[in-house]
Amino acid sequence: MDSTTNKFSKKNLVEEILAWKKKRKAVILAHVYQPAEIQDIADFIGDSLFLSQQAAQTDAEVIVFCGVYFMAETAAILSPEKIILLPEIKAGCPLADMAPPEKVKEKLKESPKAVIISYVNSFAAVKALSDYCCTSANAVQVVQAISNLPVRDRTQTGKKDILFIPDKNLANFIAQRTKRKIIPWPGFCPIHNLLTKEDVIKAKKLHPQALLLVHPECRPEVCNLADYIGSTKGIINFVSNNSAKKYIIGTETGIFHPLKKSNPDKEFFPASEKMICRDMKLIDLEKVLRSLQILEPQITVPEDIRKKSLKALSRMLETI
Ligand code: 13P
Repeated sequence: MDSTTNKFSKKNLVEEILAWKKKRKAVILAHVYQPAEIQDIADFIGDSLFLSQQAAQTDAEVIVFCGVYFMAETAAILSPEKIILLPEIKAGCPLADMAPPEKVKEKLKESPKAVIISYVNSFAAVKALSDYCCTSANAVQVVQAISNLPVRDRTQTGKKDILFIPDKNLANFIAQRTKRKIIPWPGFCPIHNLLTKEDVIKAKKLHPQALLLVHPECRPEVCNLADYIGSTKGIINFVSNNSAKKYIIGTETGIFHPLKKSNPDKEFFPASEKMICRDMKLIDLEKVLRSLQILEPQITVPEDIRKKSLKALSRMLETI
């Protein structure tokens, strides 16, 4: 904490953030994996899809993105005229890191017949190489929409295979749901991939009445045991619309905050205590305040990459 902010109590800190937010004409977006104190000050809380829609629609001049690098980069692609702040520049995504643009370029040479879909958890330069982008909330819909297009329209060159970058577990989930062959990139989210079948069996034994809800970035053998597989938003909606009182949750622990807040009469148990994304926990109130004060760290994307990646993102937003 620096000298500008250490004089504030938490209450004052929140008041200062709100005052600076007004002064900067800013909006605060927070992913549901963020610490509770960050979610509580956000204007919009949600999954990757919802936050990218908000970033595209807002008329604020500054977007404070409380999430990880690829999320802020997505906002910069969609809203180049705005200032995009990521209060902690080191907040990255190990899954995105598993698909460096140079390696993706090499792979594309080997797969000239493939439609390229990049998961939103990827670098802008990877999105720029892609035909479509998707999030976990719309991946199945995007693939179904591509499958329904005449082959000649898929990319004007008649491509028909699908290469999905970078999450192999999500690729497997999409293939199961759409009955399409998907070529997976060998990446995975280290947090979701930590959850094993044994962890889930143990949690189910401890809470036999609970429903198991997991994110599609989990391993296939974990997904096979689930009562519901979906994005963070999907999991939250499932709980709101279900009368069951107990749930085992197979995704990052930040989601417990909105789940408990909206469902005080229901109980939630982690499928594993290990599912904590350190990157998502790097942002705190002091960093949000400082970021608003000094308008740093700003996230920008070189214009040539931005234009190309915008095509893949716009196709996604138009498809759903
Ligand atoms: P959602 O799109 O479901 O919010 O997931 C984001 C993410 O980063 C999962 O690891």
